[in-house]
Amino acid sequence: MLKKQIQDALNDQINAELYSGYLYQAMGAYFENKGLDGFAQWMKAQAKEEQFHAEKFYDYVNERGGRVFFTAIDAPPSDWDSTLKVFEDTLSHEEAVTERINNLVSLALEHKDQATYNMLQWFVEEQVEEEDNVNHVIDQLNLIGDEQKGGTGLLILDRELGQRVFTPPATIGE
Ligand code: FEO
Repeated sequence: MLKKQIQDALNDQINAELYSGYLYQAMGAYFENKGLDGFAQWMKAQAKEEQFHAEKFYDYVNERGGRVFFTAIDAPPSDWDSTLKVFEDTLSHEEAVTERINNLVSLALEHKDQATYNMLQWFVEEQVEEEDNVNHVIDQLNLIGDEQKGGTGLLILDRELGQRVFTPPATIGE
């Protein structure tokens, strides 16, 4: 059985993951509006990944005999100054999520909840990948330079990012 403090923290994380998905959908909508369909596709795949993260926490809380409670999800922003700014905000957001996961790990250790600690290790690794993926796009955007001048490079990157699809890992439901 989950301790209440752990259950509350995991429910809070479910809300945070759903907000992440909402944020990336908003970024996707921004790109759709700019005609950057590949960037929009990348954000859609990212949003699906966040939904998967929320479901992973949801399944775990239920598996441990806890209860899932949903709360209101904040509205995300809808406009950014540039493509680069979208990805800089994405990186800041993912760094904040990493901090949240690290705090959950500390809480699990504090309560000697080894099962929660073990479950969280998947997210610790996932955050390394999440930050790396975003950093890769930022590096590419910086190579292209200002998007007003680097139109062709931006379109090539748009085509590349449009290849991204989200495939749930085989561990789903474990
Ligand atoms: Fe669920 Fe992007 O971290």
